[in-house]
Amino acid sequence: MVIKRPEQIPSSEITDKKVYLNRRNFMRGAAMLATVVATGELYRRLNEPPQPTPRGEKLAGVQPPAPSVRSTSEKLTSFEDITSYNNFYEFSTDKGAVARKAKDFVTRPWTVRVEGLVNKPKVYDLDDLMKIAPLEERIYRLRCVEGWSMVIPWVGFPLKALLDEVEPLSNARYVAFETLFDPKRMPNQTTSVLDWPYVEGLRLDEAMHPLTILATGLYGEALPPQDGAPVRLVVPWKYGFKSIKSIVNIRLVADQPKTTWSMYAPNEYGFYSNVNPNVPHPRWSQARERRIGEYGLRDTLIFNGYAEEVASLYTGMDLKVNF
Ligand code: MTE
Repeated sequence: MVIKRPEQIPSSEITDKKVYLNRRNFMRGAAMLATVVATGELYRRLNEPPQPTPRGEKLAGVQPPAPSVRSTSEKLTSFEDITSYNNFYEFSTDKGAVARKAKDFVTRPWTVRVEGLVNKPKVYDLDDLMKIAPLEERIYRLRCVEGWSMVIPWVGFPLKALLDEVEPLSNARYVAFETLFDPKRMPNQTTSVLDWPYVEGLRLDEAMHPLTILATGLYGEALPPQDGAPVRLVVPWKYGFKSIKSIVNIRLVADQPKTTWSMYAPNEYGFYSNVNPNVPHPRWSQARERRIGEYGLRDTLIFNGYAEEVASLYTGMDLKVNF
C-alpha cells in the first residue's frame, strides 16, 4: 500500500524487495564511509543483522488441502521471505521492519466477537475458533496491489464454517472485519498514518465462498505476529490488503461496510479490489507482477488465477466501475 505524504514514505514502501535490499546495502556502505558524520543510531540501525523469525508452535491435525480446492503446484515462497517482507501498518510502514517491531506482540488470550445480523452472536476465544472446522493447508497466491506476489501455504479453515455457526439473518448482506486497536501493543497506532482500527469488508457471498478462509498458521505452524497472528482473513482472488490481519471483530451487516483503504483514497482502492490485470490502479498498471524470490515479471491473471471458482460471483457487474 502507499501513503502519499512524501515524508512518510519509507524507501521500502515504493520499491520492490530486491531494489530495496540493494539500496540498503548501498546505504550501509555509504554509512561505513561516512562514519565520522553518521550518528550512532543510524549506524546501529543499518548494521542490525536480520533476525530470523522464530518458528511458531506446530499446529496439530492439519489436513491436506481439501480435494474441492484446486491447489497450485507453483513453487512456494520461502518462509524467510513470507515472514520478513510484510505490510502491517500497525507496526510499521517499512516492510522490512514489521517483523522486528511485531516480534513481542502478545496474542494470547485473544477473542473474536462475531455479532450483528445473526441469530447466535458469540465471542470466540482462539481455542474455540480452532475447533470450528478441521484446519487445512491452503496453498494460495497472494497478489499485492503494489505489484509483488507470493505463494503461501496457509493453515486455516473456511470462514463459512464460522458464519454458519452464528446463523446469518436474511437481511445480512455484508461482513465487516476489524483489527485489534491497542496502541500499547501496536505502536504505530499512535500515529495517524491510517484511521485505526484497520477495517475491511466482503459481500456475504464472497465471505461464504469455499476459497475464503480464516488463517491461523502458515508452513504448518502458528502465524508469526508479522503475518497477522493469531487469526487473519485470506481471500486469494483479491488484492492483499483485503486480507485483514489480527482480527477481533466480525460483524454481519445490511449495508456495504467502510474499508480502510477505500476511505483513505476512494479513487484508488475500491470495495471489491479483485485482482484484475485489465483495470489499472491510477498509479500502477496491474498487468504484471514480480514474484518475490524470482527474477523478471509474470503476467497477472484475472482474479489472481481463481476465475474458474469465483468469476460467477460477479456476473453482470462492470468490473471497471466496481473495482
Ligand atoms: N491488515 C492490517 N490490520 N494492517 C495492515 O497494514 N496490510 C494488508 C494486509 N492486511 C495490513 C493488513 C496488505 S497491504 C497486505 S499486502 C497483506 O496484509 C500482507 O500480508 P503479509 O504480510 O502476510 O504478506
